[in-house]
Amino acid sequence: MIQFLALASSVGFIAKGIVMSEMLHELNQSTQPIRPMKVFNNWEVVPKGWYVACKSSELKTKKPLSKKICGHQIVVFRGESGSVKALDSFCPHMGMNFAKDGKVVGEDIRCHFHFWTFNGKGECTDIPSVKGTVKKSTCNRYKVQAYPVEEKYGLVWVYSDTVAPHPVFEIPELEGQEILYTHMKPFNRVAHPHITMMNSIDEQHMRTVHKLSVSLEVTNWEKGTRFFNGFSGPVLTDTLVGKIHKFFLGDRYSSSVLFEDGNLGLLTTGIDIKLFNRWTIPRGYFIFSHTFTEKGKNQVHPIVVTPKRKGLLGFLFSHAYLLFNKICMWYLAYQDGRVIYGNLRFRQDGLLAEMDGATAKWINFVNRVIEPSLWSRSKAKTEKTDLNELPTGPQAKEESPEVPLSQ
Ligand code: FES
Ligand SMILES: [Fe+2]
Repeated sequence: MIQFLALASSVGFIAKGIVMSEMLHELNQSTQPIRPMKVFNNWEVVPKGWYVACKSSELKTKKPLSKKICGHQIVVFRGESGSVKALDSFCPHMGMNFAKDGKVVGEDIRCHFHFWTFNGKGECTDIPSVKGTVKKSTCNRYKVQAYPVEEKYGLVWVYSDTVAPHPVFEIPELEGQEILYTHMKPFNRVAHPHITMMNSIDEQHMRTVHKLSVSLEVTNWEKGTRFFNGFSGPVLTDTLVGKIHKFFLGDRYSSSVLFEDGNLGLLTTGIDIKLFNRWTIPRGYFIFSHTFTEKGKNQVHPIVVTPKRKGLLGFLFSHAYLLFNKICMWYLAYQDGRVIYGNLRFRQDGLLAEMDGATAKWINFVNRVIEPSLWSRSKAKTEKTDLNELPTGPQAKEESPEVPLSQ
């Protein structure tokens, strides 16, 4: 009950914080000048990756939706077969928004203005005012950018570039298994997605913000666009929280975070933990997908996942465990969001070698590995004169220096 009241009171608090923070982010240029990095914490760069467009249930057959993802306007629509497509939102003829009274015809979408029609690959398939069959060359001249789409976890995901090199994230430990999942209400952070993600591997804040009484050891690895951070260590009993922790969950703590593509994170909790030092508890899996609608408005979509267990008891336990995890995550998110993001203008050159190593590694990883997508605005695009030419991706900014660590 107390937690519930705390959560309720936080809503107003956070709303006030958002207004304040818009100012705070732009102040103190003399003592803390803004130095944008190549990719990390850079609002102009949208990493290549899968982004949540909407809930699957929200996208009805024949009813296109216009969505702004990371500042980029796309249209998503479901053809008669049920398959979903995503295109840039504006018609290549005169620029009408497809979603505004556009009509789904079979598997294609028809623009409301002059009824030009486009398929899921972005190819023009019909121009009704042209008499007879439209020449292929004419159709080819008008193409709208199409994006890979996938439906997973009850959500429509769109990839922010032409070709998706991998499907939507799947929890490695649960690959091939049947799962159950539930969504938490998406919440907003007044901080860049990279800052919000960084928080989950910030060792020091585990002790200060979340009151975790553990001496943490950190392990990191990276593979492709994946970055892993593991936390484990003995529970300390020098505080009351530590004593309670040890009583219920044993001597050791262990959790991990796996980032993919610079915009998605998996938090795994309860790794090898035994209740009362006796019964192994199931792991908690939390996927966090990050999108932003515009600068300063990061939206986090949390998905709580658990393996599907057999029988009625298994069914009841799985759903109860999802609910339990959901409540825990709301509380952790409340602790993080209550004060921090709205009042933070991130400074990367103050990191401490001993304690902020994982954070520095993550920042350097993002700048080194994560690529800008077609949706980036890191350089203004020059006007094209060749109408056949599709917009090309932006060039990345000059190299960011390695993040230094103070000793
Ligand atoms: S603007 Fe779309 S058909 Fe003319
Ligand atoms: Fe946190």
